Amino acid sequence: MRLGVNIDHVATIREARGGLEPDPVTAAHIAELAGAETIVCHLREDRRHINDRDVRLLRETIKTRLDLEMAATEEIISIALDIIPDFVTLVPERRKELTTESGLDIIGNRKTLQTTINRFHKKEIAVSLFLDPVEEYIRLAHEIGADYIEIHTGEYANARTFDEADEHLEKIRNAAELAGSLGLGVNAGHGLNYNNIKPIIEIPEIEEASIGHAIVSRAVFTGFERAVRDMVDLLQRYTVRNENVVPED
Ligand code: PXP
Repeated sequence: MRLGVNIDHVATIREARGGLEPDPVTAAHIAELAGAETIVCHLREDRRHINDRDVRLLRETIKTRLDLEMAATEEIISIALDIIPDFVTLVPERRKELTTESGLDIIGNRKTLQTTINRFHKKEIAVSLFLDPVEEYIRLAHEIGADYIEIHTGEYANARTFDEADEHLEKIRNAAELAGSLGLGVNAGHGLNYNNIKPIIEIPEIEEASIGHAIVSRAVFTGFERAVRDMVDLLQRYTVRNENVVPED
C-alpha cells in the first residue's frame, strides 16, 4: 500500500505564529525522501493552514504526486485547474469544523460533482471522491465518472470498542470490494494511525492511505523523516505479508 502524507498540520503550526516555519513544503520534501508516494494538502476556503503559495511551490518542486484536497467551489476549482495537481480529492467543507467530518453528500450534490469531475477530466486531472463506506454512494461515484474514491475511515478510527471497530471495518471492506469491482481506484483516510492502520492494509483493493495527524504527532517526538519512514515500513510489512499468503484451492 502506498502512503500519501497530508502536510496540513505542519502548516497549522506555522499559522499559529503567522510566520514562515515550519514550512509544509520542506515537510513534503522530507516525506518524499522517507518514502511517501503522494503529498496531500487541503486548500481550504478560509486558508486556515495551506495557502496558495504552498500549493504553487508544491506543484513546482515535489517529485511524487500531488493530491489537492478541496471543496467543489468555484474559487478553488479555478486554482486547481490552473495548478494541475496529479489528482484532486473532493471533500465537503464547513467553516466551523475542526477537520473534515464526514464524506461527501453525493446524493444531494450529484449534479455539481458530476460537472466538476467533467471539468477536471477535460484537463486530464483524475478525481477522487471522499465518501462514507455506503454501497449507494460508491455506485453513484462510478455513475458520475469518478476515477477514485477515498473511503472515510473516521468512524472506524473513532470507534470506542473492538466490536464497533470491527463493524466499521466490515463496511470499509465491503465498500472497497464493490469499488474495486466497478473499476474505481480506492484510497482510504482520516484518523488512521500506527495502530489502527493494520487491518486497513490487509484490504487488497485499497491502494493508498492518506495520513496526516498521526504522522505529525509522532514527528514531534521522533522527527518528521522517521515518522514517515515508520509508517512506510508498516505499510510495506503488512502488504508483503498479504502477498505471501498462499491462495486456497
Ligand atoms: N483524507 C481526507 C479527505 C481528509 O480530509 C483528511 C484530514 O485532512 C485526511 C485524509 C487525513 O486525516 P488525518 O489527519 O486524521 O490523518
